[in-house]
Amino acid sequence: MSAKKKLIVANWKMNLNIHEASVFVHQLAQTIAVHRDVEVVLAPTLLALQSISLQVDRRQFKLAAQNFYWRDFGAFTGEVSAAQLRGLVDYVLVGHSERRHVFHEHAKDIRSKVQAALRSDLKPILCIGETAHERSLGETNGVIHDQLLAGLANVTSEEFHNVVIAYEPVWAIGTGNNATPKDVEKAIQTIRRQIEHLYGKTAAENVRVLYGGSVKSDSAATYLATTGVDGLLVGGASLNQHEFTTIVEAAHHARENN
Ligand code: PGA
Repeated sequence: MSAKKKLIVANWKMNLNIHEASVFVHQLAQTIAVHRDVEVVLAPTLLALQSISLQVDRRQFKLAAQNFYWRDFGAFTGEVSAAQLRGLVDYVLVGHSERRHVFHEHAKDIRSKVQAALRSDLKPILCIGETAHERSLGETNGVIHDQLLAGLANVTSEEFHNVVIAYEPVWAIGTGNNATPKDVEKAIQTIRRQIEHLYGKTAAENVRVLYGGSVKSDSAATYLATTGVDGLLVGGASLNQHEFTTIVEAAHHARENN
């Protein structure tokens, strides 16, 4: 199988103002080496995207938007569309658990956003994962199945090449509760099985699947060595220069493991 680049995504969430974000990018640029086998993506606040896009070397950092609205243009006060983000970012997060659970985004919003991203040539990072309650009921596989099916409805095989999946168990996000490598391996197996069912064996092998949820510098290497994991979606630890730099280095040292 062709070697896949590891993908490390920093989700800064609603942290850092424009100035702080710029200073932080400047610091990261000094410690994060450019490696051919690792793609590093930063998702700052929407406000800082424009200035950071002028600041970064795109060989070192690509950019992602944390959120957008699925219509392209129109009377949608306060919203920003994928069409408006085109050229500014390469990736967009879709279906992050905070969007689903704090802002009550539903399956149909998430499906529309995946389609809007693809329509504007942006790569959607579709986040899926079960809550603690769903997990306690043994529903993990069912949730993965439903969220994938809903998010990918109407995505063609050709479009699917541009989709990234992030497995983020809700109970592990921002909580310090780590999913075990076995949990992650099993969930990602379920994801690839379903992708195979929808798009075929090659697509299932080639799709990049990330793990996210309380990843820190000392756990990154373990997740990256877990079968099926092609990268990481990092929240809290991505706001610390040393932590994030160490995570990127761990990706460079990780072996292909599918
Ligand atoms: P965390 O966040 O690393 O702080 O758990 C991950 C995420 O929300 O993507």
